[in-house]
Amino acid sequence: MEDLSPKPGDLEPIETASRDEIAALQLARLRQTLDHAFANSPFYRKQFADAGVHPDDLTSLEDLAKFPFTVKSDLRDHYPFAMFAVPRERVVRIHASSGTTGQPTVVGYTQNDIDVWSTVVARSMRASGARAGDIVHVAYGYGLFTGGLGAHYGAEKLGCTVIPVSGGMTERQVTLIRDFAPRVIMVTPSYLLSILDAFRAQGIDPRDTALAVGIFGAEPWTNAMRREIEQAFDMHAVDIYGLSEVIGPGVANECVETKDGLHVWEDHFYPEIIDPETGAVLPDGERGELVFTSLTKEAMPIIRYRTRDLTRLLPGTARSMRRIEKITGRSDDMIILRGVNVFPTQIEEQLMRCPGLAPHFQIELRREGRLDAMTVLVEVAEGQADAAARAASAEALAGHIKSVVGVSAEIVVGDPGSVERSAGKARRVVDRRA
Ligand code: DLL
Repeated sequence: MEDLSPKPGDLEPIETASRDEIAALQLARLRQTLDHAFANSPFYRKQFADAGVHPDDLTSLEDLAKFPFTVKSDLRDHYPFAMFAVPRERVVRIHASSGTTGQPTVVGYTQNDIDVWSTVVARSMRASGARAGDIVHVAYGYGLFTGGLGAHYGAEKLGCTVIPVSGGMTERQVTLIRDFAPRVIMVTPSYLLSILDAFRAQGIDPRDTALAVGIFGAEPWTNAMRREIEQAFDMHAVDIYGLSEVIGPGVANECVETKDGLHVWEDHFYPEIIDPETGAVLPDGERGELVFTSLTKEAMPIIRYRTRDLTRLLPGTARSMRRIEKITGRSDDMIILRGVNVFPTQIEEQLMRCPGLAPHFQIELRREGRLDAMTVLVEVAEGQADAAARAASAEALAGHIKSVVGVSAEIVVGDPGSVERSAGKARRVVDRRA
């Protein structure tokens, strides 16, 4: 693969600033954000009053711990626009979550917010190895989801030629990748695997495309999956993280030259790790729940938002800003099976060790008598169809899961295409216990 390390002049000055410079900027911006939230958001004014805190109580970054958390239900309770801290007329864009689990959560952006968002996505893309002049294929969904438009504006800001394909019509994705020869693709890792299947079904070697960089996020994926993708496409696979409540994609991104976790763009988003049980702030290096405070957002400043994503903070490497370790999962996705905590990413890692199986999977939870049971639905790899090979693969996967993850799973090896596909985020767990 190509060496895509940045050259002198590629980076913004803040990307190589000292820790002291970063901390000073954060403190100044944190004060502004708390003042803005207190002055202009009835929600935050009440939150602060209930907690007995005032923006003036912040004199150091550590003081942020005195302020209350914001959680997803706060956004739901203020549906649709009551979290906004600017007059609605200043809001130039709305995004929203799908709302499959209740009231959708709505977020808003001023023109300045869109500019900041574009800047952090452009920075993320540069960290991934993209450069001005590249052709970028965006297969994240366009619409209320932040993936498509977030990637799109960032790519334009970087100076790229954007192909706004969105998700779906998988065969056409292959045609466009061949005909338009993008150097960069932005898509969920699970949907990229569907595109990979379509390449193979059409008898085209994905290593023969112009793709040099894939920027994958919106769902957890493992280093084992990275190796699989890099091998299949002969391109760099880099991790992008974000969430709509904080801005969308581009909150943190890996650097292509290190691929050692995601640098948080700390000049715009202040990270903390807390103990999810007690809410106490944990020191860097300890695992817990990621919490973000926006430092520059106007339309919807967000204070100490509990992401439910589990990771830890690590010192900077390729950039001076701190990193988060690749996300193992969300607390919501954690399966507790007979007392053992299991994340879908742990199943993914074991699946990647089985050459007879395709990388698609879905976990089903069932009730067997009074006990919970887990079935992992997988697919036989192309050309491995005979029954004996399937049985051997199932046994191998069950064995890996038992010995490494520590739980018993029934493995169902289906035909190619039998595991549910999504053109966006994969649904990894189906709970049939109710
Ligand atoms: O998924 C924003 C995004 C779009 C990020 C495209 C990256 C690329 P939401 O739909 O609000 O926003 O979902 C946010 O997705 O809290 C994580 O649980 C998960 N997530 C996002 N990126 C990653 C990642 C977008 N790189 C939620 N690794 C977050 C693991 C991720 N999980």
